[in-house]
Amino acid sequence: MPTQSQSPHLPFGENKNAPWYGKDILSVKQFSRDDLDYVFGVAHEMRGMVERVGTFDLLKGKILANLFYEPSTRTSSSFIAAMERLGGSVISINEVKYSSVSKGESLPDTIRTLECYADVMVLRHPETGSAAIAAKAARKPVINAGDGVGEHPTQALLDAFTIFEELGVGRIDGLTITMLGDLKYGRTVHSLARLLSMYDVKLNYVSPDILKMPKEVMDEVAEKGISQKEFGSLEEALPETDVLYVTRVQKERFEDPADYEKVKGAYVIDPQIMKAAKQEMIVMHPLPRVTEISMDFDDDPRAAYFRQMEYGLYVRMALLAMVLGKA
Ligand code: CP
Repeated sequence: MPTQSQSPHLPFGENKNAPWYGKDILSVKQFSRDDLDYVFGVAHEMRGMVERVGTFDLLKGKILANLFYEPSTRTSSSFIAAMERLGGSVISINEVKYSSVSKGESLPDTIRTLECYADVMVLRHPETGSAAIAAKAARKPVINAGDGVGEHPTQALLDAFTIFEELGVGRIDGLTITMLGDLKYGRTVHSLARLLSMYDVKLNYVSPDILKMPKEVMDEVAEKGISQKEFGSLEEALPETDVLYVTRVQKERFEDPADYEKVKGAYVIDPQIMKAAKQEMIVMHPLPRVTEISMDFDDDPRAAYFRQMEYGLYVRMALLAMVLGKA
């Protein structure tokens, strides 16, 4: 989107000197460590405000357009909840088949339409790079809520915030994080590996051969001097793991269903397997899960995946307030 000086259309009343005012959020590559500290600080304050007062008027009068071309439960509803907790309103388009998209309207035209009515737009789309295309067309901020197998930056931010809140502020440095499952198509792990490479961490990757972490992501992480190891089985990596990040094998991303059949159910986290893990560690998952974490593990204090969803609310409140000049 254009700079403030180029755009006569940005709304009034914001702090135009706020660092993230009017910016798109498309990739974790936009964030420095200082930026992350800032996001986590604001998200922590949002958490306190929600716990104390529930809803407040920071974004009263502002409107979010929530545009989802792919299914979502958490990202979609947490952005709606975030806007409403901040006193704003939402135009929600979850079923694009009931919008003019079904008549052949292009993504740029849909975005240009929605920004006539809204102050900020959240977009989930099946094609990698779609959020950048939308941002180019828009005068107002666009937030990437997942673009195909590309990135899911707000998920990575909430994942890192979860680690901060669960294992203690400042404790990302020194941790060993093991990513498990579909590392090829999993946009959440692509974003998270890039984001964690800003810290002094060790990254382990455990996946079937056909679902390995893409070379492009591993090369970017290696450029930051981060240790990365690949494993075929979890047993070897689990005992040293501080954060086990489990992902679903995504049936919908496979071109050949036979390939999916070969690897579905390759890993299942259950109480028996977790006996080999530390007591002071956490298990995370972006969700939804299918069979990769047994429900028998849900009551273990190390199971952080339900708490992780709640941290997403606070991070998305922080991001909305930031791009609208209120944080
Ligand atoms: N984690 C995540 O993106 O979940 P949804 O697909 O439900 O939004």
